[in-house]
Amino acid sequence: MKTENILVIGGTGKTGKRVVTRLEELGHIVRIGSRSASPAFDWHQPDGWAQALEGIDKVYITYQPDLAVPGALESIEQLVKESKRANVKKLVILSGKGEREAQLCEQVIIHSGLEYTIVRASWFNQNFSENFLLEPVLEGIVVLPQAEAQIPWVDADDIADVVTKALIEDRHNGKIYQLTGSRTLTFGEAVAEIAKASNREIQFVPVSIKEYGDGMRKAGVPEDFAWLIEYLFTEVLGNPELAEVTSDVEKILGRKPIDFREYATKVAATGIWNTSIAQTHE
Ligand SMILES: NC(=O)c1ccc[n+]([C@@H]2O[C@H](COP(=O)([O-])OP(=O)(O)OC[C@H]3O[C@@H](n4cnc5c(N)ncnc54)[C@H](OP(=O)(O)O)[C@@H]3O)[C@@H](O)[C@H]2O)c1
Repeated sequence: MKTENILVIGGTGKTGKRVVTRLEELGHIVRIGSRSASPAFDWHQPDGWAQALEGIDKVYITYQPDLAVPGALESIEQLVKESKRANVKKLVILSGKGEREAQLCEQVIIHSGLEYTIVRASWFNQNFSENFLLEPVLEGIVVLPQAEAQIPWVDADDIADVVTKALIEDRHNGKIYQLTGSRTLTFGEAVAEIAKASNREIQFVPVSIKEYGDGMRKAGVPEDFAWLIEYLFTEVLGNPELAEVTSDVEKILGRKPIDFREYATKVAATGIWNTSIAQTHE
């Protein structure tokens, strides 16, 4: 097998760190792209990108915080230019399933002239353990809008397995994959699975999007983050395409996707859902 030099942007994040582990296990040379890496890669400091791309064959792109935010399209266009200048051969980008705005960024990759794979993922299971839903779970009360939304949760380990293959196998060139789990769960059902797996009482309280937005602002959540969360709840969760279950994980990996229950059981065993909020803030 040929050893590749691969830049993983967001390489310490939810999918990036898992991709890094897999690529290193396979013997590839991995460079992490993040603000704290050396050389640093910051989406807001394009001057540093040439250094991060030097000698790189392939790039896994996760955009922070989301491909739908203002400025994302220009950043992806600039990254494509810099990648071509650095003789990068292939780009694999993480996009959102049911997220129409992200598709503008996908088009930039598709028309880049470089090899590419687009990986559109549904909402991650890990939002409950490594992202903004961890704190409400620890507080024992999860207050969210779109209580009726049917979400085909996907596991970050499945995404990482697919992305790793997309990076190293040519048969994924030019493909658009849509990754989901094999069933949908509402927020309430997902919270109930977590409560059962962690043997705790966790309440789910449905609210309107307006109430949720007002609550975030009252709690001092920065306006750009509040805007993004409202966008995701309105546009992505409100898009009926999101609920569709696909078989792409199984087609690519030759096995069933990780089920939400399996995820919840595994995370519960680590004890992170039994830590009190006071301890997480220490
Ligand atoms: N969560 C979901 O349910 C979901 C579903 C579908 C698609 N997505 C997409 O997934 C993408 C995020 O992927 P992820 O969840 O794997 O990553 P993540 O966990 O959100 O990313 C964290 C990583 O990004 C780096 N980072 C943060 N800000 C940065 C900046 N300004 N410049 C460069 N690096 C930065 C962090 O390192 P430093 O702090 O050191 O910079 C860290 O390595 C988003 O585009 C989102 O739209 C998410």
